[in-house]
Amino acid sequence: MRHLSVPSKETSLWRDRLASEGWLAEGCGIHNLGEQRAIPINENAPVNFENLEIIELNAIRAGPKHWTERLPSELFQKYKSDWPMSHDQIGDVIILKIPQNLQKHATAIGSALLEQHSSARVVCADNGVKGQFRVRDLSIISSRNSNQTLTKVRESGHEFWVDPGAAYYSPRLANERLATVECAQKLSETLGRKITVCDPYAGVGPALVPLAASDAVSDIYGSDLNPDAAELLAKNIPGHWSACKDARTLSQEISEFCDLLLVNLPHDSIDHLPDIIPLLRKGNEVVIRGWAILPLESLEDKKEEIRTILTDCNIISLTVDANRSYSPSDTYACIEIHLVR
Ligand SMILES: C[S@@+](CC[C@H](N)C(=O)[O-])C[C@H]1O[C@@H](n2cnc3c(N)ncnc32)[C@H](O)[C@@H]1O
Repeated sequence: MRHLSVPSKETSLWRDRLASEGWLAEGCGIHNLGEQRAIPINENAPVNFENLEIIELNAIRAGPKHWTERLPSELFQKYKSDWPMSHDQIGDVIILKIPQNLQKHATAIGSALLEQHSSARVVCADNGVKGQFRVRDLSIISSRNSNQTLTKVRESGHEFWVDPGAAYYSPRLANERLATVECAQKLSETLGRKITVCDPYAGVGPALVPLAASDAVSDIYGSDLNPDAAELLAKNIPGHWSACKDARTLSQEISEFCDLLLVNLPHDSIDHLPDIIPLLRKGNEVVIRGWAILPLESLEDKKEEIRTILTDCNIISLTVDANRSYSPSDTYACIEIHLVR
């Protein structure tokens, strides 16, 4: 296709001029040639432009907007409205739920997704979250010479290892983790010193990684009962204490040391509180930040339940915020308690 080579600073000027004359080749991209840009022109454009060169280059045409456009067209038409329209990408691993009636076409789905997303290495079918470790049951349906789901992610400027097929990790909680860093900073200001943080349900440590980089934090303690999570956790917070233990037994080993305690075991966070409170330092303000899946109508009752568990402590403030919907009747609530033991 013919392209008009123009100085890069004059690209938009020439693009507008060609468009207004009806000489621009619509739907084609502009080549970057360093100091020059090559703008595609159509058959109505003149054969000569004063002082400017016309060059022959391949047209840049936009690829399909959605991966389903890369499926064989008969196959796409057959199941038109059944194709999964959304998927997650964690590092270079794509995860998607495949409806029952399309499972026999999993390979075609995987190939189309890999073709569409050049940064992806593996495509996995998501068969749901399983067991007490909340790990996704994934089956690899297509890959570029790889059969593992271990990958590196970047979240809020920090990089760390995850393995969505072996340990819990959700990119959707990134904002909660930023709020935790803010909470740590405020607590450090209140106490006038750096603080110690403990996450006994740390998973691979996504909440601890940004805290490890924070000026407000001195020591970090992370643990998880899932051995695969604990292995990645140790890798993600080098130089800090990490373990593979049941959170309820941690205080037998280390107690009264932490200023900020994270509790992310959404189905059991409140039930576990009595066993992990001994991890908190005595004599100064400390904070528990936890997450729990709770019936919307139960929030006031849950506050009372927490007050009862903490009867021996001086509660400075207690909030239970229904900030994310979990189901029509349940919320994924954020609990924040400031107290002195
Ligand atoms: C919802 S995930 C949260 C993980 C991590 N905090 C995050 O936000 O990605 C809950 C974690 O608790 C771990 N877990 C479950 N029961 C536990 C227990 N009794 N003690 C310690 N960890 C446990 C699971 O393996 C899982 O990694």
